[in-house]
Amino acid sequence: MFDTLITEFDKGLRTLFAPAQSQRPRPDAGLDEAELSAEEKRHAIGLMRVNHCGEVCAQALYQGQALTARNPAAREALQHAAFEEVEHLAWTEQRIRELGGQPSLLGPLWYTGSLAIGVTAGLLGDKWNLGFLEETEHQVGAHLDSHLTALPAADAKSRAIVSQMRDDELRHADMAHEYGAARLPAPVKGLMKLTAKVMTVSSYRV
Ligand SMILES: [Fe+2]
Ligand SMILES: [Fe+2]
Repeated sequence: MFDTLITEFDKGLRTLFAPAQSQRPRPDAGLDEAELSAEEKRHAIGLMRVNHCGEVCAQALYQGQALTARNPAAREALQHAAFEEVEHLAWTEQRIRELGGQPSLLGPLWYTGSLAIGVTAGLLGDKWNLGFLEETEHQVGAHLDSHLTALPAADAKSRAIVSQMRDDELRHADMAHEYGAARLPAPVKGLMKLTAKVMTVSSYRV
């Protein structure tokens, strides 16, 4: 257990301080950079910063959950999804920098909170752990959908990244469902939405 904790701690440090790696080509690889106004750029940076912060949280959640998952098949599925989350992290971070911005300064704070939530969900047992994951992915998928409307129409590169992420998150939700996710009580879903709202509003700005 101690070794596992050290490994996870090391992953955490890498999430926060080292550039993430991607195996799949970037979804916007074949698209040209558009001419964006200063205002459009500022808005796109804010939105992509929110998405990057969400992916930092996803790393922490999956790590917390993989630490505590009991079913080996569920753990393997979690690890596969976690790998795609690393790619999302890489894509969003690179895109923020291309637009001339930098990731949110609040990342470490959200990382720590999310790790605690992931471990707690995991300790409740696999079906609640997966239920929490399924609901998170559904909420993130809906949120990314709203960004497809909110992003500047000309910013095809950010849109291609967000669109692929949305597809991946919905697949992660289906996976959690297949492995026996429990349906979460409405107040828990509401609390998750509220927490996500605080994260999105703050990381857009700072
Ligand atoms: Fe993701
Ligand atoms: Fe996901």
